[in-house]
Amino acid sequence: MSEIQMSIIKIAPSILSADFARLGDETRAIDVAGADFIHVDVMDGHFVPNITIGPAVVKALRRHTAKPFDVHLMIDPVDAYLEAFANAGSDIITVHVEAGYHIDRTLQVIRGLGRKAGVALNPGTPPEAVAYLLDRVDLILVMSVNPGFGGQSFIPSQLEKLRRLKAMIGDRPIELEVDGGVTIALAGAVAAAGATAMVAGNAVFATGNYEAAITALRSNAEAAIAIT
Ligand code: DX5
Ligand code: ZN
Repeated sequence: MSEIQMSIIKIAPSILSADFARLGDETRAIDVAGADFIHVDVMDGHFVPNITIGPAVVKALRRHTAKPFDVHLMIDPVDAYLEAFANAGSDIITVHVEAGYHIDRTLQVIRGLGRKAGVALNPGTPPEAVAYLLDRVDLILVMSVNPGFGGQSFIPSQLEKLRRLKAMIGDRPIELEVDGGVTIALAGAVAAAGATAMVAGNAVFATGNYEAAITALRSNAEAAIAIT
């Protein structure tokens, strides 16, 4: 290892790409394979054109891992469901800045529930949307695909958004997470742009070796930081 101080890159496999008939086993498998967060995509068929799971499934999965649940809510309205997701065992609750009218209030409610508060930005939403939320959030999630489905292609313009957000964050203790289309080949570029956490659905679950995929994502990301 070089002497350069390296950020620790967190890898968050998305169980959206797991075998839904074996979610408990899949959650344990990514835990053992080295996942830092378990990324849970919650979709309502309204905010996004797909429907996935709710708090009952999060609660059922909670006994399968002690790793943090990084719960990405793609639902609108969202406020009525925050307590249920907190009680189900979510550690980080991320809401879209585009969902609901009062994002500042929503983020305060999440922290009030004793959970880490995240805010997500769709690809078309500018980084300035979070300019006045920086002291309310523990995580900013940059969507690098339009939310709704796994297995889509990374939208390159989001690298610039990551760079701008990194500058806006400064030395605040905010995780900068990128979500959508992240591959082993792209891990270096997103880390160099400032991502400190990366979601990976297909890049992990479409492979036969979750540990190899997670290790490759992490090592490519950390190598890119070490040389920048
Ligand atoms: C998309 C979800 C992502 C997605 C990631 O709406 O938020 O978490 O499942 O999957 P990949 O890595 O396959 O794009
Ligand atoms: Zn997600």
